[in-house]
Amino acid sequence: MRSGEAVLLRTTNKGKLREFIITVAEEKFHSYFGIIDLGELLQKEVGNTITSHMGQVFVIQKPRMPDMFKYARRTGAPMMPKDIGLIIAYTGLNKQDFVLDAGTGSGILAMYLGFIAKRVLSYEIRDDFATVARRNIERAGLDNVEVRCGNIVDEIVTLDEKFDVVTLDTIDAKDVIRNVKNVLCPGGFVVTYSPFFEQAKDIRVKIEEVGFVDVTTIECIEREILFSDRGTRPSTARVGHTGFITIARM
Ligand SMILES: C[S@@+](CC[C@H](N)C(=O)[O-])C[C@H]1O[C@@H](n2cnc3c(N)ncnc32)[C@H](O)[C@@H]1O
Repeated sequence: MRSGEAVLLRTTNKGKLREFIITVAEEKFHSYFGIIDLGELLQKEVGNTITSHMGQVFVIQKPRMPDMFKYARRTGAPMMPKDIGLIIAYTGLNKQDFVLDAGTGSGILAMYLGFIAKRVLSYEIRDDFATVARRNIERAGLDNVEVRCGNIVDEIVTLDEKFDVVTLDTIDAKDVIRNVKNVLCPGGFVVTYSPFFEQAKDIRVKIEEVGFVDVTTIECIEREILFSDRGTRPSTARVGHTGFITIARM
């Protein structure tokens, strides 16, 4: 492993999975299971193990986005993987794409997009949230995701570059739509995420005014299937609503 690289350390204790995301460095990591000399990781690779001073053995893995989703520091409600998957699929996001994102929040969507796209530029209005997101992005080992502190409503008019995809997860997304056209590549997509019908309706009105094509609003419902001795069925837990995703194209 290289210095500065993000690593997932995984172990089990009393039948329970325990995981830590750390950064490879010449320092000690103090855990409930003992002290781990992180410098030893420089001589190891993914799949090897490392042992704490208390004899607890950890398997070394590379953290992936589901790990970051679980362990990233949160400043608010992140977008859920089911909705992020839908955005990636419906925009056809790929490794050549430049993405403009707002608001960054904890950076969950920005990180998922960053693992696929060439570059992600994300705006967050709150300085303290931007700091947390930058830390999460660094821990994920991403160097193609930039977080700028600013109000996307004002900042979008200052941008003189073009993006393939624009994602808006802010309450005032409707006020951004009219300027999205100036920063989108031909054939590019704008995606908005709205918790309420009323917000989704306001966005649809703005999208109609501006004149995008292929406009669609979707809700993605996820049902977990439970397996037990009694039988197999969808979970009876209430299906939670997250948001309505509106996708439109230039
Ligand atoms: C629901 S959270 C975004 C969650 C994020 N997509 C994620 O997956 O972690 C909304 C964020 O937008 C920020 N925000 C609200 N209005 C904004 C604006 N006009 N410009 C930039 N950020 C804004 C908020 O501070 C908040 O952190």
